[in-house]
Amino acid sequence: MTTKLDEKRDPRCVPIRLDRKVPEGDAINYPDYTLGEHRTWAHLYARQRARLPRRSCREFLQGLDVMGFPEARIPSLREASRKLYAATGWTVARVPGLLHEEEFFGFLARRVFPSTDYIRRPDELDYTPAPDLFHDVFAHMPMITQPSFADFYQRMGQVALRARGADRRRIERFYWFTVEFGLMRTPEGVRVYGNGILSSMGEIVHALSDAVIRLPFDPDRIVEQEYVVDRLQTVLFVIDSFEQLIEGFEKWAGSRGL
Ligand SMILES: [Fe+2]
Repeated sequence: MTTKLDEKRDPRCVPIRLDRKVPEGDAINYPDYTLGEHRTWAHLYARQRARLPRRSCREFLQGLDVMGFPEARIPSLREASRKLYAATGWTVARVPGLLHEEEFFGFLARRVFPSTDYIRRPDELDYTPAPDLFHDVFAHMPMITQPSFADFYQRMGQVALRARGADRRRIERFYWFTVEFGLMRTPEGVRVYGNGILSSMGEIVHALSDAVIRLPFDPDRIVEQEYVVDRLQTVLFVIDSFEQLIEGFEKWAGSRGL
């Protein structure tokens, strides 16, 4: 889930419900990408990779090493699925776009990451409102190679499926401010673990700048914090560790009977 942005303006941002089973793991074929699409990946990869030092958390960099993405061509989802499976028992499903939240959380609950396999247009290099493979593959997958995050991600899916009404909305906010836009305090300084930041050229600089109010991790506050999807974030939350994130989420879920 990236970006349920701009639903009125861009039809690619309207969440979809799957009307058939989608391919998973070894059943995913590699599309016939154009040279221009490979170039888009190479450009995005090189640009964002250069911005990671002193900004990204250590776990993400370790995950990038585990995934070993090619720099000059679009990675294969089948290959990525095999690497995730070897690391944490997750696999990949190929999905045609932004999923309805019920289906999205259903994949997470069974340790399957739903990924797109198309890349943004050349005029969207700096920002795309719709999910694309650069976000799904480059940003999400490395974190899923990290065991504690991988387990937490599955738990989010399981808990979200049980939540109804306002609690489902609260979990979406929690997801936004952790999985997509989370920051972590480390001995070296504040670092990024949120995938929405890690895949965004602008956000990865902005999120650590003085323009952002950074608050301590507080699940009760996060679940009530509204956000805007199509502009730079103004408030972010900082965890001390993934253990704190997981404990905080479990405690909140328990308090809601989820
Ligand atoms: Fe996402």
